[in-house]
Amino acid sequence: MSRSDRPAASAASTSALVDLDEVHLTLDSGAGPVNILRGVSLRVGAGERVGVVGPSGSGKSTMMMVMAGLERPSGGAVRVAGHDLGRLDEDGLARFRRDHVGIVFQAFHLVPTMTALENVAIPLEFAGVRDAFDRARQGLEAVGLGHRVTHYPGQLSGGEQQRVALARAFVAEPKLLLADEPTGNLDIDTGATIVKLLFDLAERRGTTLVLITHDPALAARCDRTVRLVDGRIVDDRTAAEDGAAAQDGLAAPAGRVRVAGE
Ligand SMILES: Nc1ncnc2c1ncn2[C@@H]1O[C@H](COP(=O)(O)OP(=O)(O)O)[C@@H](O)[C@H]1O
Ligand SMILES: [Mg+2]
Repeated sequence: MSRSDRPAASAASTSALVDLDEVHLTLDSGAGPVNILRGVSLRVGAGERVGVVGPSGSGKSTMMMVMAGLERPSGGAVRVAGHDLGRLDEDGLARFRRDHVGIVFQAFHLVPTMTALENVAIPLEFAGVRDAFDRARQGLEAVGLGHRVTHYPGQLSGGEQQRVALARAFVAEPKLLLADEPTGNLDIDTGATIVKLLFDLAERRGTTLVLITHDPALAARCDRTVRLVDGRIVDDRTAAEDGAAAQDGLAAPAGRVRVAGE
């Protein structure tokens, strides 16, 4: 189905699932401090699908790590699924991720010494779910890999490995699914299969998606696209705004730009 069939959740509503407020992240390097995020404010509504684009090194992956509670910002506030991440200690952040976040990476990041089934069962086992392996098997069936449960990652193609990673990311039914260039290591056809699966799985569960991508086909399926340049959001537009701009024959930069906090 096309992205316009589903009303986009309003990012301005009070039910934002993700709320980054003036997030700064500065790291010390040998050459002095590096400002990686420079005041990023972003609200993502429950069920919304947001594509994150921007040049390499602009801070996209860092922003995603902040949303997942894997990086602590140097300033600003991060709220996800009702949790103020700045108030959680490391154990609290681990529980937060276990309960609310699924992550997919460009390079799959499966555990090479575990079978597909074991890889998918890991998050459920961490959560103490008793029927972890049954649910992991259902998760693999949902991505078309019911016949590959005993295979190790090295025995699977790139596309199959990413399908295992999708099954793992969705198996605990997270509210928020983060993906960092999920089709970046795949050929066009395989990437298209992964994109379809990702959106189908999210659609069925009402999962909120934040997807970093250089893949125009993936970005085009999102409700909204955010552009990062040099640690700042420089453009934030909905699919409808993009469509209207295209119909008016306007170039992309003429679209409405939201300012931080709007
Ligand atoms: N641990 C780190 N130490 C120093 N610099 C880093 C570190 N991680 C990322 N960076 C720098 O931060 C910037 C943003 O990185 P990143 O978030 O990975 O960008 P993107 O995902 O948009 O390519 C880059 O310039 C990168 O070199
Ligand atoms: Mg990156």
